[in-house]
Amino acid sequence: MSRIRVTASVIAAVAIVSAAVAFSQSPPAAKPAAAKPAATSAEAAAKKIAHGKHLSVVSVCGDCHTPGTLFGAPDFSRELSGSELGWQGPWGTSYARNLTPDMETGLGKYKEEDIVNAIKGGHRLDGSPMQPPMPWQNYATFSDADLHAIAAYLKSLPAVKHAVPDRVAPGTAATGSFLTFPAPSAWDAPRTPPPGSDAGAKKP
Ligand code: HEC
Repeated sequence: MSRIRVTASVIAAVAIVSAAVAFSQSPPAAKPAAAKPAATSAEAAAKKIAHGKHLSVVSVCGDCHTPGTLFGAPDFSRELSGSELGWQGPWGTSYARNLTPDMETGLGKYKEEDIVNAIKGGHRLDGSPMQPPMPWQNYATFSDADLHAIAAYLKSLPAVKHAVPDRVAPGTAATGSFLTFPAPSAWDAPRTPPPGSDAGAKKP
């Protein structure tokens, strides 16, 4: 019985294959190829995300944006979901933001393109200037393809709900934990004030 069935299915398979061969030989042969580009584009998307992840690791995004990293205990279950550690300097106090795709507290509302343009142009997604220590000037030298890969990786992360404290203007008291940089020695002191600040001209 089963032998007969096997034989029958072999015949059926052969029939299908020969039909396919006949079809592919007769023009136009567009249909059988249709499934291929879809698989290829999924592969390309996975490759792009993997490349973005690698760039984000070597560009140490997580040092500032993943909780615990600067204390030697990165919490990868909340990877890139922002930190409550403030950075205080002539620019005021800034907090590394939630970069996961959470709709309310992260970058969920923004398209890949918006994230690329923010990093390239040195402005936050609300259009305001990106404050230190976010080293956007360095990342702006990535190619567009690299920045798109980083943005695609950020969009592929699991969304984590975490509202980072709002940044604080110079001279206004910050709440929570923050790092303050002591005034530099004469050797280290900048000759010109850092871009975007009036430090050196007057006290904040
Ligand atoms: C040295 C610390 C530091 C590093 C490293 C860093 N960031 Fe940031 N990032 C910040 C801080 C601080 C802010 C908030 C700046 C502000 O409030 O103006 C920020 C803001 C951002 C924003 C704006 C988010 C928003 O809500 O508008 C994006 C996007 C961003 N960072 C992406 C990245 C990516 C991608 C990397 C790695 C390629 C990275 N950052 C590396 C500190 C850092």
